[in-house]
Amino acid sequence: MTILDSNNSIGFFDSGVGGLTVLSKVKKLLPYEKFIFYGDTAHVPYGDKTKSQLLEYSDNILKFFEKKGCKAVVMACNTTSSVIFDDINGRYNFKLYPVVQSVAKVLAGFNVDRLGVFATKATIESGAYSKEIAKYNPEMKVFGQFCENWVHIVENNLQNQPESVAIVKSDLEKMLENDVQKIVLGCTHYPFLTNILSRFVPRDMFIDPADYLAEFIKNDLATCGLLSDGSSFGEEFYVSANPSQFKKSAQLFYELKAEPNLLNF
Ligand code: DGL
Repeated sequence: MTILDSNNSIGFFDSGVGGLTVLSKVKKLLPYEKFIFYGDTAHVPYGDKTKSQLLEYSDNILKFFEKKGCKAVVMACNTTSSVIFDDINGRYNFKLYPVVQSVAKVLAGFNVDRLGVFATKATIESGAYSKEIAKYNPEMKVFGQFCENWVHIVENNLQNQPESVAIVKSDLEKMLENDVQKIVLGCTHYPFLTNILSRFVPRDMFIDPADYLAEFIKNDLATCGLLSDGSSFGEEFYVSANPSQFKKSAQLFYELKAEPNLLNF
């Protein structure tokens, strides 16, 4: 790896608006950094894509970040972290932070013996959460569950529809049959459903990995001497389809300071 410049940008990528939940948490801890966000809205949802599709999409996006000279890239998406990170690790000239691997140690340290994980089909099928947590705490039992309609509910802002509440409640009830003590919201979109989930069980039952990812990134950048001195902060947004729809969905929960640019590879 050539020498990285601490004042260069941090790239962020996800399949869509969900990644903004992660960006906002990282930004809170690192307000003096410059961020470049790429939402692959042409290919959302990632959760039902094959490994080779995910490799192709991610490679294009990561090469784009490399051209932009990013010092670090956050793989905000649980699905790509779970399915392809191990294959691409070390290929690019920046620090790469995959959400699942970056938070596994903290999750393994929770004082629970039965942990639930809600995630996409691809994340659950990969078994990545169980495998990564087992590296630190092989005793912890991890129960993964795919939540089929949740990304659709969030991308289309259907949280207030009674059918959406019924779907979320039913998925939660199924998970609770495992007697889990905490549940990881293992998909960038799911934290948007916390208000619905906490109608049925206490809010502190849910873990948003983004909280721990943000701390991990801050500590790691500090350790590597890569924190920006604040001379160039700000943000840029890119999407692969429908910038206006992205802006509309995003603005419900994130103040977009810049117009999203359309960029395809
Ligand atoms: N970004 C994906 C993740 O965190 C969820 C949405 C999707 O399926 O694209 O797993």
